[in-house]
Amino acid sequence: MALDLSTLSETAAALATRDPQEIVALALEEYSPDLGLSFSGAEDVVLIDMAVARGKPFRVFSLDTGRLHAETYQFIEKVRTHYGITIETFSPQAEAVQALVRDKGLFSFYKDGHKECCGIRKVEPLMRALRPLRAWMTGQRRDQSPGTRADVPVIQLDRAFGTPERPLVKFNPLSHWTSKQVWTYIRERNVPYNELHNRGFISIGCEPCTRPTNPGEHERAGRWWWEEETKRECGLHVGAPR
Ligand code: ADX
Ligand code: SF4
Repeated sequence: MALDLSTLSETAAALATRDPQEIVALALEEYSPDLGLSFSGAEDVVLIDMAVARGKPFRVFSLDTGRLHAETYQFIEKVRTHYGITIETFSPQAEAVQALVRDKGLFSFYKDGHKECCGIRKVEPLMRALRPLRAWMTGQRRDQSPGTRADVPVIQLDRAFGTPERPLVKFNPLSHWTSKQVWTYIRERNVPYNELHNRGFISIGCEPCTRPTNPGEHERAGRWWWEEETKRECGLHVGAPR
């Protein structure tokens, strides 16, 4: 099955306030097994918990940039064994990483911005991860960034990574949940979580580009903190939500 793409924004509007578990169920109903859950190794683990509970096959992938925290690698492994699922990791192309590091060193992003490194370590691997899929699912939420995520819908046509010949549907079941709701779910259901959350990290990305946040600071203040707020997106979620 598949959703009617010509009425996708109406469907998204109608489901805008539904429980994320219903959105996850719908995604599986319509796209299993060609649905991939994009797992960053942070609190988006709740999506895995919700999807496993439905008992329908789906894929889980993580973009292994090579620069994640040791704790995140440990957590990805913990999630794999806890749920007994396969987690596909996508690594960047060795030649591209080697050329970047040879030409600009290991921390070029502090000098000329994160776009180039993210392009090589995240976006290109994501394109490979998405190739066999008809739909993918992310843990994006509106409350993560008033500047860049305020309009994230629960379902959208992904025009950035899909094509008219091979349309790709993107589910963001947590879009309308707050951080508090996510953490209530994690605590109530004993969902495993990344150790870094106990040490002041709220949003977690690559180790050199993530720092803990101070009380009162917005969660994405800890991501690419040396750049302007409106530029703090890595290219995984490009394009206006549709
Ligand atoms: S990012 O674009 O700034 O890196 P963020 O960390 O907020 O994204 O995560 C939003 C969603 O993007 C996650 O819930 C996940 O679905 C996806 N994502 C981010 N980083 C990764 C990663 N390394 N591997 C897989 N998915 C990721
Ligand atoms: Fe590179 Fe930082 Fe982007 Fe990770 S978040 S891919 S280290 S620029």
